[in-house]
Amino acid sequence: MTVAEGFVAGSRKGILLAVIAICFLCRANVVVAQTDTCGSDLSSFLPAPYSDYSNHICQPVWYNFILRYSQSPENVLTVILSAVYTVGWVGMGFSKDGRMVGSSAMVGWIGRDGKAHIRQYFLNGTTPSEVLVDKGKLNVTTVAPTVVLHGATIYLAFQLKFQAPLDKQQPLIFAFGTTPPKHHHLTHHEDKEAISFDFSGGKSSGSLYPHQLKRSHGVLAIFGWGVIMPIGAIVARYYKDLDPLWYYLHTAIQFVGFVLGLAAVVAGVALYDQLHANVSAHRALGIFVLSLSILQIIAFFLKPDKDSKVRRYWNWYHHWVGRLALFLASVNIVLGIRVGGAGDSWKVSYAFDLAVIIITVIVMECLMRVKASKKKAIDIANTQMNTI
Ligand code: HEM
Ligand code: HEM
Repeated sequence: MTVAEGFVAGSRKGILLAVIAICFLCRANVVVAQTDTCGSDLSSFLPAPYSDYSNHICQPVWYNFILRYSQSPENVLTVILSAVYTVGWVGMGFSKDGRMVGSSAMVGWIGRDGKAHIRQYFLNGTTPSEVLVDKGKLNVTTVAPTVVLHGATIYLAFQLKFQAPLDKQQPLIFAFGTTPPKHHHLTHHEDKEAISFDFSGGKSSGSLYPHQLKRSHGVLAIFGWGVIMPIGAIVARYYKDLDPLWYYLHTAIQFVGFVLGLAAVVAGVALYDQLHANVSAHRALGIFVLSLSILQIIAFFLKPDKDSKVRRYWNWYHHWVGRLALFLASVNIVLGIRVGGAGDSWKVSYAFDLAVIIITVIVMECLMRVKASKKKAIDIANTQMNTI
């Protein structure tokens, strides 16, 4: 290729990239322009009777979910729920206590074939097989529910008849998934929220979901059991030549780790009481690991003298119970991240933490063994020299 050809090819690439960038920016503008706000005009694309929403109250409820609704004197609630949508499903449910289990929800999506769907689901449990299509306690009126995709926004519109006017503190649940349902079977949500909503004034009085407690539980558990205590164990195993510093460091670090780990379990119990989540394996393992760490602390105070005959057994016990507790705690962190649906950032951070610990242990173990075998060789050589 000549210099001139190269230049032409280069500028063509540049132009192509510029065109792609402009298209992308235009698309981004279109997307921004087409997302919903309470001032948007929906009458041109929503079918009757939903297109006449002049008496509706409009309120952003969660994330990019906007709720428009009106309540008639006969307790008929007309709802238009909008949310930014690319793929997957969007749902809104009516709950007794802010929990998913026991609620009934209206869920809408656009199928792979481009067809719009809206169905009622009964959320009988938190596994996909317990989320039952065309079941539920919501009384849908004869006005058919509908779903419309307009630009980047999906609109779910439905009418429900209630026995009495909706409460001032009606728990509502919202969720969205990113996988389109197959044969109407929903998959686990990407995110969810529970709020208390005042239908008389159109106000949301905040989240019913204990986000902060859950976060504190996870952060304390990962920090205590997954960072501090493994560091304490590494100090005890690989820094014995810094005597007696290793001993004080080990005791202090494990004590801090234990306090954080204990706080994590206390937060876990409080979280469990609030969520009544189905986390029996995680809960049992957490309590077992805490019991092992309490045993370690008790054993620390009952430590036999260095010259005592039983000290060997005590050492063996302390080392293996410690290792077992750390191993089970790491299993329980993984379980917690799974049952809590903690998301990718948690998975990546913990995987990184675990990888750093495991690599450190492997490297330090190899160094320690090499050092020990060198020392043994020198000792043997010395004894041989002495016997000559
Ligand atoms: C197959 C479908 C579904 C599955 C497998 C599922 C699973 C779960 C699971 C395992 C949890 C516990 C915490 C977590 O993992 O994030 C949960 C919580 C929650 N889900 Fe779902 N869910 C489904 C559908 C829905 C729908 C349709 C809604 C609402 C429209 C919803 C709303 C909620 C809410 C608000 C919570 C938090 C409150 C609580 O823990 O009860 N879920 N779900
Ligand atoms: C060694 C002890 C424990 C560790 C390392 C641990 C770790 C974790 C982690 C990392 C999460 C995810 C946090 C998040 O998503 O923000 C979690 C969630 C959770 N843990 Fe624990 N945990 C322990 C003990 C317990 C105990 C004893 C209980 C209950 C009595 C408990 C109850 C829960 C609950 C209810 C959730 C949330 C589940 C949901 O959203 O449905 N944990 N745990």
